[in-house]
Formats: sequence, C-alpha cells, structure tokens
Amino acid sequence: MTLNPPTFRRDLEHTQSLAEAIYTFFGRTLEERLCIFDSEAMEGEVAQAYNDLGLQSRRETYKRIAEDFRLRTQYSDDPQHQRRILEVGCGSGLLTLTLAEQTIGMIFGLDVSADMIALANKNKENKRQEIMEKIIREYACGGYTFSLPNPAARDPMPEIVDAASAITGRARFVQGSVYNLTRPGKNEKSMDYVVCRNALHRFRDPKEALRQMHSILRDGGKIYIRDLKRDADWKTVLDRIGESRWKTPALVRDYLGAMAAMLTVEELATTLRELDINRFTITDGSYKSDATTSTLDFKEYEQAIEYVCVIEK
Ligand SMILES: C[S@@+](CC[C@H](N)C(=O)[O-])C[C@H]1O[C@@H](n2cnc3c(N)ncnc32)[C@H](O)[C@@H]1O
Repeated sequence: MTLNPPTFRRDLEHTQSLAEAIYTFFGRTLEERLCIFDSEAMEGEVAQAYNDLGLQSRRETYKRIAEDFRLRTQYSDDPQHQRRILEVGCGSGLLTLTLAEQTIGMIFGLDVSADMIALANKNKENKRQEIMEKIIREYACGGYTFSLPNPAARDPMPEIVDAASAITGRARFVQGSVYNLTRPGKNEKSMDYVVCRNALHRFRDPKEALRQMHSILRDGGKIYIRDLKRDADWKTVLDRIGESRWKTPALVRDYLGAMAAMLTVEELATTLRELDINRFTITDGSYKSDATTSTLDFKEYEQAIEYVCVIEK
C-alpha cells in the first residue's frame, strides 16, 4: 500500500480505535494480538528513520530509561561482581550505549536486523568521539588546558581516547535472534540482566522469546521489559506519534503495525505464569526518578500507555 502523507495523516487522526485504524490501513480485523509486520526485523528506510528519530529527539528518553532500569532492578555498581547485561532487540543501540555509560561490566546488544547492527556500530564510534569531546570540554572548563592538546587538532591525549574507549568498548553488538539465545553449545545462565525495550511486541512468538531470555539469566538475575499496551487509550497513542515521526510515514505505519502486536498487561502476566515464571511485577511505565530534567518538546505518555515488567530469577 502506498501512503499519501496528507491523506494518511488526516485519515488516521480521524480513527476512533486501534481496531478501526488496523482495518483501515491494513485491511485486517483486530480481535486479539495481530502480527502484521512483513518481517520481525526493522530494516532499510524504517531502521534508518527509527535511528534518526532516536538521535534527534529521543536521547533524553534513553537516559531516563537507563536510569529507570537501574532503579527498578536495584542495579549496583559493585566492582566485585562483573555485571553482564544483554539487550535483546537493541535496534541501533542507542539504549545499549546509554546503559554502557550508566553501568559497569559488559553490555551486549543483539538484533536480528543487519541494518540495525550496522547503525549500532556507527553510533558506537560516534559516541566514543562524543565522550572524548565531552572530556576535553570538561578539562577546559576546569582551566586545565596546559597539558592538553589542541582539541581543534582532533588529536586528543591517549588517556582521553582510552577513557572514552573504556566506556564504549564495554558495548558489543551482534546480529542474532532472540530465539537462538539458548542454542546448544551456548553458555546458559550467562547474563545478570536482560533488557527488552519496545521489542517484545516485535517477536512473533513472545512466549518463546521470554522463555529463552529467562533461561540465559543466572539465578538472582533480572529481566527488565518496557513496552506499550495494546489496550492503551487510542487518542493518547495517536498523540504519541509526534511531529518527528510524521516526517517518515513508513515509520508511522510501522508504529501502527507495532500497536496491533503489543501485549496487554494481562496477556503478559498469563504468558509468564504459563512458563512457570512467577516472580515478577508489572507496573505502569512512569519513570522511577525525575533526576533527569525533561526538556522534551513532545510528550512521551510513559505513565499512560507503557508498562514495565521486572522479572527476578
Ligand atoms: C522498535 S525496535 C527497538 C529498539 C531498541 N530496543 C530501542 O528501544 O530503541 C525493535 C527491534 O527488535 C528487533 N527484532 C525483531 N525481531 C527480533 C528477533 N527475533 N531477535 C532479535 N531482535 C529482533 C528489530 O529488528 C528492531 O530493531
């Protein structure tokens, strides 16, 4: 289906429910969860637009999520314990890299899309440059310019390069599927934390994905899931699209498809119990800390339409 942007927007904004929107734009009847993506992987134009959106207007969101992850899982920076975090469905790695800045230990970003992994590796190199420039600026602000090279010469001291590389070097990206986490020969129970943000809905078989995420957790480890609710208030879901996303109608169409594939909180709880996973809490998505002052020019509606599930093994 080709999208005529002005008509698409007007028509979508006139719909009264997710079911009506799915019928109008996909010709499908939504009675329960519906996986209507051509492929689970986000690729090509959609991958690029999702990354641009993240870089242009969602940086603060990623900081808030990383902070929320720390608080809700009681993450501690105890250097005695090596912390291994796996983010499944990491996309272009913007959350993975923010987590690398806010935690210690290794963090692995896994995504089935080769395009997303290529973007993630590019973001990793850009983040390294960004951290170096930040360190140089901070030195300069402290008046310690005497032993520093000229930042304009783009020849920072090896110490600065090392400091930046130490952060981004802890993030590794790998192309792979959530369904292959526990393939024979792989190290089971190797992760302290699994993070899955806005990705559970993307998996055709969320039950198998949850089973595998739980299997690779060490005892005492935790899974942090943040996603949207399929039964969220429709007008709020529409508002959340935001002007930046509307710049790429294919991304809005992807967002619609994603909404149809979201789980409700009840469905997630039932699925976990079917897997005999009983140590979990599910709450609304409000961020646990407001330490990061919001300067966002769009509304996130995390409290109204997102949920957070923390599973403990
Ligand atoms: C909406 S993006 C979320 C990216 C990232 N977590 C974030 O918050 O920015 C969902 C990602 O899940 C990935 N994905 C879909 N199916 C997958 C699977 N079976 N295994 C791993 N990743 C998958 C997609 O390619 C996509 O990059």
